[in-house]
Amino acid sequence: MNSLSNLIRPDIQAMTAYHVTDVPEGFIKLDAMESPYHPFARQPGLLEKWQQYIAAAPLNLYPNPAASGLQTALQQAFDIPETAKIALGNGSDELIQFITMLLAKPGAAMLAVEPSFVMYRHNAALFGMDYIGVPLNEDFTLDLPAVLSAIERHNPALIFIAYPNNPTGVPFKREEIKTVVQAAQGIVVIDEAYGAFSGDSFLPLAGSSENLIVMRTVSKIGFAGIRLGYAAGHPAVMNELAKILPPYNMNQLSLATAKFAMEHIDAVNETVGLLKAERSRLFAGLSGIGRLKAFESGANFITVRVPDAVEMFEIFRKNNILIKKLHGSHPLLDNCLRITVGSPEQNDAVLAVLKQHLS
Ligand SMILES: Cc1ncc(COP(=O)(O)O)c(C=O)c1O
Repeated sequence: MNSLSNLIRPDIQAMTAYHVTDVPEGFIKLDAMESPYHPFARQPGLLEKWQQYIAAAPLNLYPNPAASGLQTALQQAFDIPETAKIALGNGSDELIQFITMLLAKPGAAMLAVEPSFVMYRHNAALFGMDYIGVPLNEDFTLDLPAVLSAIERHNPALIFIAYPNNPTGVPFKREEIKTVVQAAQGIVVIDEAYGAFSGDSFLPLAGSSENLIVMRTVSKIGFAGIRLGYAAGHPAVMNELAKILPPYNMNQLSLATAKFAMEHIDAVNETVGLLKAERSRLFAGLSGIGRLKAFESGANFITVRVPDAVEMFEIFRKNNILIKKLHGSHPLLDNCLRITVGSPEQNDAVLAVLKQHLS
């Protein structure tokens, strides 16, 4: 056999694997935008009802998403037009991967803003697309003229816009995103992973034009563990995507759980409402801390700039709190940290640490 270094693609050998942090026992985990709540555990009897529901899932059979009724349930729960076609992914990560694969013709380009979700750039590299990263403004708003001129210059086949954006959270203007969709000759994916927390959505426009795909995930609304993302778009594009998605990429337990969640959407919305209220309270608390700048967020996290992010990250660790250190990942994120909005107790713990060190 040839040595592995001769067999495996050199560009992959040069990559580093996505690091999933081991969280020590007892830590408050606020690094990955997970919900602190199990949405079915808050209403009496609902957890048991869900357990009975998934107990009936036919584990001996391959999953059939179309027959599961989930797509229709999503359509009803999230106001997705009937003209749109929905694809399901094992997390929206998988959809990002396959949408990129779909458009990665030799010489084709992907455009995204910077900083944004790291998986866009990663998948461009994986599938050999040219990558164009357009920097945000310093306050993390969209630099629309720069995006439009990059579209004109590079004619990207694929544009990803996280709306709200991760890791900054600062809302982009709806009109600006519409302008990008109109200007693009390629496919624009509006990634609404945090859409439930923003109060705005492009889902009602899904299916209206061939170049728009609206993507969502249930990960941030209490179901990171079931790995389920969905994308809604024009049938002309979604039918092509269907050709390359693995036929059995979803599993019976996730499909059943998501369907149950759609049937009990009030329980899910209740936790989203709690987190939105906590986001306001956390933001007000952060804004009152002298040596810290908190950026307004439309998502379930708040990005802050502190005098020394490396030191502050370590102080959080010593206090058994894990947050995300953004410092070092992009020049615009100098001394920035990202804090997931947690339960009231978790947010109080965050505020207490910051007040003690930065007031
Ligand atoms: C903007 C954005 N899109 C997509 C994802 C992936 O979500 P998932 O694969 O859990 O559905 C994330 C996760 O952090 C994200 O921030």
